[in-house]
Amino acid sequence: HETGSLSIVVLGASGDLAKKKTFPALFHLYKQGFLPPEEVHIFGYARTKISDDELRDRLRGYLVPAKGASSKQLDDVSDFLNLIKYVSGSYDSEEGFRLLDKEISEHEYSKNSTEGSSRRLFYLALPPSVYPSVCKMIKTCCMNKSNLGGWTRVVVEKPFGKDLQSAEELSNQIGELFEEPQIYRIDHYLGKELVQNMLVLRFANRLFLPLWNRDNIDNVQIVFREDFGTEGRGGYFDQYGIIRDIIQNHLLQVLCLVAMEKPVSLKPEHIRDEKVKVLESVVPISDDEVVLGQYEGYRDDPTVPDESNTPTFATVVLRIHNERWEGVPFILKAGKALNSRKAEIRVQFKDVPGDIFKCQKQGRNEFVIRLQPSEAIYMKLTVKQPGLEMSTVQSELDLSYGQRYQGVTIPEAYERLILDTIRGDQQHFVRRDELKASWKIFTPLLHSIDRGEFKPLPYKPGSRGPAEADELLRKAGYVQTHGYIWIPPTL
Ligand code: BG6
Repeated sequence: HETGSLSIVVLGASGDLAKKKTFPALFHLYKQGFLPPEEVHIFGYARTKISDDELRDRLRGYLVPAKGASSKQLDDVSDFLNLIKYVSGSYDSEEGFRLLDKEISEHEYSKNSTEGSSRRLFYLALPPSVYPSVCKMIKTCCMNKSNLGGWTRVVVEKPFGKDLQSAEELSNQIGELFEEPQIYRIDHYLGKELVQNMLVLRFANRLFLPLWNRDNIDNVQIVFREDFGTEGRGGYFDQYGIIRDIIQNHLLQVLCLVAMEKPVSLKPEHIRDEKVKVLESVVPISDDEVVLGQYEGYRDDPTVPDESNTPTFATVVLRIHNERWEGVPFILKAGKALNSRKAEIRVQFKDVPGDIFKCQKQGRNEFVIRLQPSEAIYMKLTVKQPGLEMSTVQSELDLSYGQRYQGVTIPEAYERLILDTIRGDQQHFVRRDELKASWKIFTPLLHSIDRGEFKPLPYKPGSRGPAEADELLRKAGYVQTHGYIWIPPTL
């Protein structure tokens, strides 16, 4: 465990990401004792000229529980907010960053009267267009100067570019300033409890080892659904679309964990090596295995151009050319403004050969990992219908977290990932070659959408998305279960 002063600098401190995710995550870590006030100071940096107290007031509403906050909770929030100091300055001039460095150094000096190392964490809650200049300023003005140890790390968040070329350009620019071990590329899906559990499930259980391959698995779906539209983010979203926003990063990262081979060890580099291998085994996407959609009304958003061709829904089949997965479709599906909100991995097994129950069965075996909401792992299987008749029924083995782990709070993805950056664990962060390989998969498709050659089909908000997507699923081999639906247990 490292000690000495720890400075956490949130750049873009008054922006959406900082307010909604970064500061609340820091607050949770603080409450649990991971950010001891005798070591830690937090800095907000942005262009707006406001005072420390004004920033604190802006953040307070995101930290106080919505209703019925106790006085202890309010005190916690105030104590936390008092750790935050605000510095204003531009993102491309040395002046502001020199001031920031001065503030950090003063705080290090005051906290380091006994210790000596200095840890500096820069969280870029900013649009990527300013990453290069901000990184340059950090490098020029704000690096850890202690000769008693410590480090400087930067945390960046997607979108890392718009295609292979722009992503590589960005990587080059940042790579000239920082070494890979200093760069933490966040994909917050890697911080989700059930995503992290994939590695354990797959490699710590004998049960899955012989089944997890093309001999037994028919198809895999990785699904993200939201029941609201782009609400207020239309301007950002329209430049990216659902593939860049969700599929190329979040869902593809999940795919890696489902499909990769067993890593040599749990060392971050070993795990990331395996992820890269899977990504590099994905064959080019075929146009007839893609369905795009755009919900009706999306273009009514004043920040979205009237002629926008941007998909808000996509189903894309990926195929992995290796010994384990040849012939198994990995169906990635994501959509906004659909009829439900959930994210899950659904592994569907093949039919039972020579099945004597075939004519009465409702469906195949499925292994489902519900990432959110109602975190659960359940296995759909056919059992005897209890009673006098010898008939079958679809049921499930269900590990629902809310029920099994009562009283356990599942940490927020950002909370866990920020703690990892402080501890120096890069396992759940995207390595540069991983990023490159994932852009490579989607760039040709994205370019053809950008050129207007591939048009999204309209779908009704609140629906399942375009019917063509269900047809694609069927063609890929997915067999829907009839007359059975998993219902999360209520407590
Ligand atoms: C973000 C996307 O990365 O993930 C958003 O930009 C999306 O469009 C969000 O809403 C979903 O995250 P979560 O954790 O709510 O599934």
